[in-house]
Parts: sequence; C-alpha cells; structure tokens
Amino acid sequence: MEAMVNGVRLFHEVAGEGEPLLLVHGFPLSGQLWDGIVERLRGEFRLIVPDLRGLGRSEFAEPATLRDHADDLAALLDELGERRPVVVVGLSMGGYVAFEFVRRHRRRVRALVLVDSRAQPDTPEGVRGRHEMAERALREGSAAVADGMVDRLFAPSAPPALKEEWRARMAATPAAGAAAALLAMADRPDARPLLRRFARPTLVVVGAEDLITPPGEARTMAEAARAGRLVVVPGAGHMTPVERPDELAAALRDFVRSLP
Ligand code: MLT
Repeated sequence: MEAMVNGVRLFHEVAGEGEPLLLVHGFPLSGQLWDGIVERLRGEFRLIVPDLRGLGRSEFAEPATLRDHADDLAALLDELGERRPVVVVGLSMGGYVAFEFVRRHRRRVRALVLVDSRAQPDTPEGVRGRHEMAERALREGSAAVADGMVDRLFAPSAPPALKEEWRARMAATPAAGAAAALLAMADRPDARPLLRRFARPTLVVVGAEDLITPPGEARTMAEAARAGRLVVVPGAGHMTPVERPDELAAALRDFVRSLP
C-alpha cells in the first residue's frame, strides 16, 4: 500500500488487528525485514510496517534526516487513523528512528523495542566512514554498500542463500536513498540521555552473534533504560527477525502481553 505523508509516497503494509505495533526496518533494508514477524503475529496484533523514505519501495525525498523519518511515521499513523499509543519496534537504524520518534512524538509511544541497535552516536572515525560510504554509494550504486555489509549482518552459520537474497535486496536500494540514510545516521545525537529519561517499558533484543551492534551494547541499553529488559537470541547476528523469527516473535508477544 502507499500513502502520501509529508509530501512523500510512503510504501507500507498493515496486517492484523489488536494492539498496534510499528515495525521500523534498518539500513539499507525495507519493511520486508519484518515479513517473518508479520506472519507469526498478524493473528494477535495490528502490525504497521513502513518502508522509510528513500529505502525499499518508498519514494526518496530530501531532507531525509532521522527527524524526517520520525515525522513520516507519525503522519503515517494519522493517515491510517491509528490514534492509540503504539509499541515502536526498531531494528538498528530503525532504533535510531525510534529514538527520534520518542523525542518528537512521545505521547504516541506505549513502549519501545530496540532490536540489534545502539544508543550511542558514531565516533568521529565512524562519521568519516559513513561519509565515504555515502559518496561511494552515489558513485558506484548501492551494490558497493551491500557487498561491504552482507557478511557482517548475519551470524556465521547463516545459510549462504539467505545472505545472497538479502545482498541482492540491499543492492537494489536506490543509491540516493542509501546515501541519505548514511548521512542521517552519521548525524544522529546521543540517545543515552533520552533512554535514561524514558519511563515506559523498554525491551532490548540482540542476536548473540551480532557483530554490528554487539550484545554488550544491548546490555548497557537495557540497564540504562528505566524500565528495561534484555533478550539475547542465540544463533542470530544483526538480522534477528530474519535469522530467528520464532524467538523474536515470542519475545515481542511476551513483552506486549506484559504491558500495563
Ligand atoms: C543498520 O542495520 O541499520 C545499520 O547497520 C546500522 C548502522 O550502520 O549503524
């Protein structure tokens, strides 16, 4: 489905009925990241799954900062008539967007789930690397980004066919969207103060073999959050919804059912 939000054509899927969950994908991915979760939870919850502007099947428009993504999500909820506070679930860059959503639309957040993500900003070296990668994406296309990332996204035991499927999907990302997302991530603020202040329930999930946002960082986030808990998923890398959908769906179900 598509909706016009903030002047941009935003692709999204909506499935199921019940408590609303907003599932926000990572970089350079799309809402397809959550297919296995939608399949498992659509009988219990209302799942709202956007493609962020410039990524997946959504139109690219500038600016595309994390603030723009957060505002797109709020406008999409309006467009869908979803006025209830939602459980915001963000993977990696989706977590960075979720922090911005909390910052800007706090009343719309019932609870927060951070999957394979982190709260601290990039180091100066990390920022430089993002800028170089953005230039490379514009020069050579997103395939350069996909090739450089794919091995680090998955646990070593992930089937090669699964990795290839996702490499090809990432390589198909429009280069302008990928470059803008890299610059948006490089520019993100430190979310640790926000996490410490946020009083609503917060679940942190991480693949035990996540190399990009490792379990140590997840543990620190869960401890920093005022109402935080941690689930470590064995056998998963940075792509927990794809690598271990049963375990992630179970963690989400338990968490949402436990909400006050
Ligand atoms: C992601 O998965 O969204 C990115 O790897 C996050 C990042 O590069 O910080």
